[in-house]
Formats: sequence, C-alpha cells, structure tokens
Amino acid sequence: MNNVLLFALPGNETMTFKMAALLDYEMGSVIIHHFPDGETYIDIETNVMGADVIVVASLHQPDDKFLPLYFLSKTLKELGANSVKLIAPYLAYMRQDKRFKPGECISSDLFAHLLSTFIDELVTIDPHLHRHHRMGEFYSIPVKVIHASPLIAEWIKNNVPDAVLVGPDEESEQRVSAVAKEAGKPFIVLQKTRKGDKDVIIKVPDVSEWTDHTPVLIDDIISTARTMIETIAHLKNAGYKFPVCVGVHGIFAGDAFEQLSKTGARVITCNTINHSTNAIDVTDLITETLKESKHAITVSTSK
Ligand code: R5P
Repeated sequence: MNNVLLFALPGNETMTFKMAALLDYEMGSVIIHHFPDGETYIDIETNVMGADVIVVASLHQPDDKFLPLYFLSKTLKELGANSVKLIAPYLAYMRQDKRFKPGECISSDLFAHLLSTFIDELVTIDPHLHRHHRMGEFYSIPVKVIHASPLIAEWIKNNVPDAVLVGPDEESEQRVSAVAKEAGKPFIVLQKTRKGDKDVIIKVPDVSEWTDHTPVLIDDIISTARTMIETIAHLKNAGYKFPVCVGVHGIFAGDAFEQLSKTGARVITCNTINHSTNAIDVTDLITETLKESKHAITVSTSK
C-alpha cells in the first residue's frame, strides 16, 4: 500500500488532524495564500511522490473554494501523487438538479462533471439528493455516501427523551423516519412549498397527538433557516413546546442563525461545516469509511 497523506483546505484543519491521529496517517503541508488581487497561490511543501492523498474540504460557499481545490489537486498529481481522494463533509451544488425554466443552468451536473475531472474518489455526508437518486447518475468517479442518521438518533436519545421528530417536507421523510426508528421515537412529516429563496410555506397536518412531546425538527441543510422558522411558527400555534432544530449541514446564510435563534429553539448541527452549533461529531464515521477503503482499491459508487 502507498503512503497516505492528508491535506486540509483552510477551515478543515481540526477535523483533518483528528482523522490523521485516528488513522495514523501523516499530514501533508501546503501554503495557500491569496494575492492582493484575490488570485490563489499554492505551495505544496510535502513530498507527495507516489502517495495516495486525501484532501479534506467542506464545500459550503463553494465558489471561493473551488479554484484552490482544483489548483491543489492538479498540482498534487503533477508532483507525482498516485491518487487524490476528496472528503467533502458538505458537498455543494446539489439542489439545482433540473432546468425549472428555460435558460437555467443545471449547476449540480456541471459541478459534478468538473469535480470528476480532477478528483479520483469522493466521500461525502448526506448529500442533498432530490431528482437524482444516486450520485453515480451525475458523478463519473466513485462516490461513497455516509449517513449521519445513526449519530443524530443517538444524540436525540441521549438529549431529548420526550422527542417527537418532525420532518419539514416530504423529501425529509426518509431521513426522519430512519432517525425515528433508530431513536425509538414517533415522527410526523409536514408539507413544504418553496416560493423563493426566503419564502417558504409549510402545511401542517393534524399534529395534536404529540403536543406533550418536545418537537425535534430534522433537516439535511439549514441555509436561510426559513424552513425551520416557518415550521416552528406552525408548531407553536399547534401548542407545542420550544423545539430543538437538528441540521446535518449548518450553512446559516447571512443572518439565518440569528433569526432562527430568535424563535427560542435550540439549534444543533453536525460538524460537516464549522459552526458554534456543532454538537454531533462525524469524524469517526469518516475514518471508519476510510479504514474500510484502506483494504479496497476502489470505493464503490452508492446512494
Ligand atoms: C431542501 O429541500 C432542503 O432539504 C432543506 O429543507 C433546505 O435546503 C433548507 O433551506 P432553508 O434553510 O433556506 O429553508
């Protein structure tokens, strides 16, 4: 087996150091600097000749990260790296997977195509699959998908004994029902219509059965937080206690976190994106996956 080296894009150092310690892999060193005009400078200080390299880069605000990732990955290969695997705990450009009106760019497919041209394998956590059902439909490289549901279920069991799980839309049903099953809790699923970036309408069925429980809202992404905020308003009207909001990926665009906090909800996220709400550590899930692939040449493409 080749030497394995871990590199972190800025902001991913904590998770990457932990992974290196757990897996007994060496860290590689790279200087990533931005010139005054905003252009990116890359200097790889570690000898990568013949190494299997793992780059850790969570891809929220992806436009800023994409070129540094491209420059780093291509340079690693130019300097003799055998392979470059990307760990993207949060994978961007998953939601615009259809031309909803003529003229729109299907950015999910184009982004997947670009990444697939310079990365050999991808590992990610709970990507937002909607109209695409499998990563292999639009990624041409092997992709390993990890699910945070078992850790979320564990957190709920330990922290919210009287939980009723709430999915804000039909898309969330699979995730919420899986977490509910593992946590041994009841769940309800609402109906959402998104009219615009910050315009979300939530329809609530009869939810009176569980009003003596603490609602735990579960979603894959909290971006503008409108989905959570609208859901909380409906649950409050229905007589529920202050909820707990659990997001796998806490993007918190703009003032989303401040707005969500104003509702009085407790907010919890996985550490796929660094944020003060990180309470569920996914590093072990990733290292377990890497340990498995240590013994396999290729990681299989899965949902
Ligand atoms: C959408 O289908 C996702 O599952 C989330 O519900 C959505 O991304 C949340 O976005 P926001 O926080 O902007 O309402």
